[in-house]
Amino acid sequence: MNKLNSILSTFILAMVMVSCGSDQTGKQSGAMAGNAAERVYVAPGDHDEFYGFFSGGFSGQMSVYGLPSGRLLKVIPVFSQDAEKGYGYNEETKPMLNTSYGFVPWGDLHHLDISQTNGELDGRWVFTHENNTPRVARIDLTTFETVEILEIPNSAGNHSFAITENTEYLVAGTRFSVPSAQTDMPIAEMKGNFKGPLTFVKVDQETGGMEIAFQVIMPGFSFDLAHPGRNASHGWMFATTYNTEEASTLMEVNSSQNDKDFIAAVNWKVIEEYVANGGGTQMPAEYAHNVLDHYTHMATSTMKKGILTVNPSEIPGAVYFMPTPKSPHGCDVDPTGEYIVGSGKLAAELTVFSFSKMIKAIDEKNFDGEVYGMPILNYDAVLGGVVREPGLGPLHTEFDGQGNAYTTFFISSEVVKWSLSDYQVIDRKPTYYSVGHLMIPGGNSRKPFGKYLVAMNKITKDRYLPTGPEMNHSAQLYDISGDKMELLLDFPTIGEPHYAAGIPASMIKQNSKKIFRLDENTHPHAVKREADTRVERNGNDVHVYMTMVRSHFSPDNIEGIKVGDNVYFHVTNLEQDFDVPHGFAMLGANTAELLVMPGGTKTMLWQPQRVGVWPLYCTDFCSALHQEMQGYVRVSPAGSNVALSWSLDGD
Ligand code: CUA
Repeated sequence: MNKLNSILSTFILAMVMVSCGSDQTGKQSGAMAGNAAERVYVAPGDHDEFYGFFSGGFSGQMSVYGLPSGRLLKVIPVFSQDAEKGYGYNEETKPMLNTSYGFVPWGDLHHLDISQTNGELDGRWVFTHENNTPRVARIDLTTFETVEILEIPNSAGNHSFAITENTEYLVAGTRFSVPSAQTDMPIAEMKGNFKGPLTFVKVDQETGGMEIAFQVIMPGFSFDLAHPGRNASHGWMFATTYNTEEASTLMEVNSSQNDKDFIAAVNWKVIEEYVANGGGTQMPAEYAHNVLDHYTHMATSTMKKGILTVNPSEIPGAVYFMPTPKSPHGCDVDPTGEYIVGSGKLAAELTVFSFSKMIKAIDEKNFDGEVYGMPILNYDAVLGGVVREPGLGPLHTEFDGQGNAYTTFFISSEVVKWSLSDYQVIDRKPTYYSVGHLMIPGGNSRKPFGKYLVAMNKITKDRYLPTGPEMNHSAQLYDISGDKMELLLDFPTIGEPHYAAGIPASMIKQNSKKIFRLDENTHPHAVKREADTRVERNGNDVHVYMTMVRSHFSPDNIEGIKVGDNVYFHVTNLEQDFDVPHGFAMLGANTAELLVMPGGTKTMLWQPQRVGVWPLYCTDFCSALHQEMQGYVRVSPAGSNVALSWSLDGD
């Protein structure tokens, strides 16, 4: 139990540190307060300087904030059903949540990143991934919609995520090693038999479309976080590992035994070439690929079979391991691509590796043994430097493009600025409380916009008015344009942000789609004018072809529906301007409303259970006469002879 005691004392120390932090309020008074307010104030009608995309963690969604104001602009549903928008409830988007396990209405959205070209943000898409049912997703930044979800087979707990600097690949690494392929076997035989796959998803440079290129079957470690190389280190990706002990139980102790775990350095260009020359082995796999069609506004889910796997120990030069102290979490590459920062969660120092030293060590075969046939690089040979006494519990590092790094410390609740040139600490500021991730717009690209830093805190405590046992997590905005960081603003976030990505608003807002043309709507059940609206019966299936426009439905009176029918409302919004959605709700429907975007069509299935006359209405305030946007459906007994009829104002 000595091991356990030492872990416990670490946590007691952690709690003491948190308590100390809480004695400070972080409030600033006098002139400073006014100054901070001015710097985050965005006047009514004005726009924020940056977009911030925040992971929603266990909400399964992504949220969009304006910075520096901290104003919530939108919640984008990705891996979870969202009744507000009908996502995952209406017939068109249900296929987005299809998986090889069937329909999965919830996901745990972890990291996200904006697409890059030449290592700089290009503002085209946001990519993200899910930790529970391994999936990756793409959000189109012209419409802020989730347009593609790809399941990652033969993997588990997708946690490690990187986008290469021309968005050639998304790399999705497993957090839980698992049998490869899955099989019935004793858990105690895990070591050596479980694997930790890194899945390389190829991204189409024109369309953003994703497909699995190959899966690197790594040893059964837990892959935590990852970043791509850039500039000279482009072609490599780096991922932290923990549980190199390959333990399966009481992980808080048993996976913390090794003095050092590893950062895996993966030369994906070498693997790409190996695969191009016919290398690799096909493995059986089944996984869903879900795509939202821009023109039909419908998602399709295709079940794919088989993936190409590669055994990295058979590919010379593909993988090297850099020993990294104490269960590293963050693995962050600076804008030049030279420095790779490893954050050992339980380490006293911050370890910074040098890419050029790494290449030299590889050339000179300066190895310290091997793991599963892959070389371990000599620690001293690859070490660039260490930041001494930086804080307690380092997690993540971002960069300002001015030669400085900013690291969060969970246990000591602070963000620490240090210099990449001499590893000296320059400044430290408390966070409230227990900071996890941080984000500088562009801070993990070649070109950071080093004006603001957002700290995402895991614990809120007294920062806001109490709202019961769970508080929204708190984010904090710091001005980092000067030598010292200045705390400007607190704002609440949704779910649990595991990372965020920021980008100048000017790179996105002019691309935002404003007109949604009805004549481009190719949904098979769309109706483009009221004259074509109708109701058709086919046995027990009834299809209602309905339109909506300010401020009525057509038709708005329907008779001849019977108990036991399957009534499909195919509702087309005849509006084309971007900010005029209409809603559709039907009393007795066992699903969410439809929120139909301009020029689009959405479908609700209603299975009426009771005889009567039942109302439907528009849920989204659309005009002065929104309240009048309503109608009725008459439901008769199952054997009734009431004829099918529909009308608008008697026509
Ligand atoms: Cu249409 Cu409210």
